[in-house]
Amino acid sequence: MLIRIPALLPPAQAAHMAARLCDADAWVDGRVTAGFQGEPVKRNRQIDERSPLARELGDMVLAALERHPRFISAALPARVYPPMFNRYETGMQFGAHVDGAIRLVPGTATKLRTDVSATLFLSSKDSYDGGELLVEDTYGTHSVKLDAGDLVLYPATSLHRVAPVTRGARLASFFWVQSMVVDDARRALLFDLDNAIQRLGATNADETARTTLIGTYHNLLRMWAEV
Ligand code: NI
Repeated sequence: MLIRIPALLPPAQAAHMAARLCDADAWVDGRVTAGFQGEPVKRNRQIDERSPLARELGDMVLAALERHPRFISAALPARVYPPMFNRYETGMQFGAHVDGAIRLVPGTATKLRTDVSATLFLSSKDSYDGGELLVEDTYGTHSVKLDAGDLVLYPATSLHRVAPVTRGARLASFFWVQSMVVDDARRALLFDLDNAIQRLGATNADETARTTLIGTYHNLLRMWAEV
């Protein structure tokens, strides 16, 4: 399930983050956090994840996620990896790979299982060419290039890549979510059911039927969730 969440950040906040990143001196080679599979195909820059700037901006992203009902509904987060920040300049790309299944949360002994991958776009999509996120699934390849402040979520099990940037620079935040519901198909069912329930509430549908569906949602979640 690939889900777009428009305007996770208001445009002014996305622009503020992009400006802070542009001025930063904490950029390092992106291969420092790449695993065995990603390292040979990863060509980008990243903000050092231990830097104060990464923590400050990462906390802003986490705060936006915590108050966004569509993110909560889609990802059913148990734990979110501290957001990181990357930059693809002209000629840079990230070849096809699957994200590593387990990551150690920096500075802790906590392990996180990557169920959902997330990219938060921070550059205006007119300011660069190329740089599409290309995600494979059984229906083909999905090309994703969103405006600054927009988020995309996709299954971390997906083969994906970032196309070469051919003009300008692409700034983004990226992170992973360990979901309470491991299986993407189950998460998709719960997301659809939640959306339908919200819609029934907004259209004055039969309240008894709606209450039954809310019960079904929670009972499925109880059956499938790991907390
Ligand atoms: Ni990746």
